[in-house]
Amino acid sequence: MVGFKVFCFTLLCIFFASQIYTPLPDNIEESWKVMALDASAKTCIFTALFLENIGVMRFEEFISMIFMMDYTLPLSDEHITVTDTTFTDIPVRLYLPKRKSETLRRAIIYIHGGGFCFGSFKQRPYDFLNRWTANRLDAVVVAVDYRLAPQHHFPVQLEDGIAAIKFFLQDKILRKYRVDPNRVCISGDSSGGTLTAAITQEMQNHPEIKHKIKIQALLYPALQVIDSQLPSHLENEHGVVLTRDIAIKLVSLYFTKDEALPQAMKKNQHMPLESRHLFKLVNWSTLLPEKYRKDHIYKEPILGRSNYSLPGLTDNRALPLLANDSLLQNLPSTYIITCQHDILRDDGLMYVTRLRNAGVPVTHDHIEDGIHGALSYMTSPFYLHLGLRIRDMYISWLDKNL
Ligand SMILES: *[C@@H]1O[C@H](CO)[C@@H](O)[C@H](O)[C@H]1NC(C)=O
Ligand SMILES: *[C@@H]1O[C@H](CO)[C@@H](O)[C@H](O)[C@H]1NC(C)=O
Ligand SMILES: *[C@@H]1O[C@H](CO)[C@@H](O)[C@H](O)[C@H]1NC(C)=O
Repeated sequence: MVGFKVFCFTLLCIFFASQIYTPLPDNIEESWKVMALDASAKTCIFTALFLENIGVMRFEEFISMIFMMDYTLPLSDEHITVTDTTFTDIPVRLYLPKRKSETLRRAIIYIHGGGFCFGSFKQRPYDFLNRWTANRLDAVVVAVDYRLAPQHHFPVQLEDGIAAIKFFLQDKILRKYRVDPNRVCISGDSSGGTLTAAITQEMQNHPEIKHKIKIQALLYPALQVIDSQLPSHLENEHGVVLTRDIAIKLVSLYFTKDEALPQAMKKNQHMPLESRHLFKLVNWSTLLPEKYRKDHIYKEPILGRSNYSLPGLTDNRALPLLANDSLLQNLPSTYIITCQHDILRDDGLMYVTRLRNAGVPVTHDHIEDGIHGALSYMTSPFYLHLGLRIRDMYISWLDKNL
């Protein structure tokens, strides 16, 4: 029986590898590497889907196994002391510069991506980025993990992030690590960008939180799911690494295991009638700059077809684009990176417009040849120049603004 499964599996892999070729956009640099990256990612995804369908393991369990092969231990080097510890009971990895400093240091809290379902600060690219940040900026970096979907749904991920950050922002802890309370940043990529944006909204709007965040950095973040037919969704439906189907599968698991949600979301029919008033907050025909609207024609999502009620889908703590202007106007100076060839591109672009309309200072870098997850391709075997370029833009913005 096992032999038969292995046989089918091998056959399917071979079949798949031959089918997998995605035509790349013209302006992608190092295109053969990107092609190899895309083929590897899609082979993993296909294998995970196959194993889920034959009942061996869940999709995200297989992908997690692959991610875990890339986990690192907390290794100190000559400049930085690296330790794994917990804030309350949330796992964090601390990067503390060894050099003596007369003045208090800046701090960056980093929240990793992984579609809410996998990943950790232990992954090599994040360890590399956070160590680099601590070193370059002579800053304290706190990388935060959180409980993952689908074992845990929204708002657990958000609550874990907030708990760890509140712990860090206590006077006695800031003193212990010699951090300047007025110079703290939160950063995150992809689903970590979702959490970063939501946590920042929460922290800045709560009077009982004494130390506010000075700046936030959102790196190709996901910021809404209520409209699943944005121009970037359609243009990148079969996009490099992250396809529309997989994005929908992962984001659905943030809210529920019910298969009805991703099915309805694929057709843009997943929202209830009562949510009509929210669509002006994510209306791409008004919020996207003309350049990105191109000749796409705005179609309103079909409301009221789904029977379940999922409060998270209308909650700005899950989907930061749903915050009203009075919540947005208290936000700190913000850095947003969007990538042209990324299904999440328009989420970031619309947030840029909404924040600027609310009077929040925004620095926006759009990467014309960017693909989703670019910062995860800074270490072997998928060492892309693109990842390093984005890293350097992010670090230089931090250095100037924090
Ligand atoms: C979105 O904006 C367009 C105008 O650009 C408008 O016609 C449409 O009614 C708006 N839809 C919603 C749901 O706000
Ligand atoms: C929703 O509920 C109604 C009435 O209970 C039922 O007729 C309809 O088939 C359901 N629709 C879906 C998509 O489950
Ligand atoms: C904005 O949203 C917050 C939180 O959802 C709510 O408490 C507040 O009343 C809203 N403000 C306006 C002006 O609608």
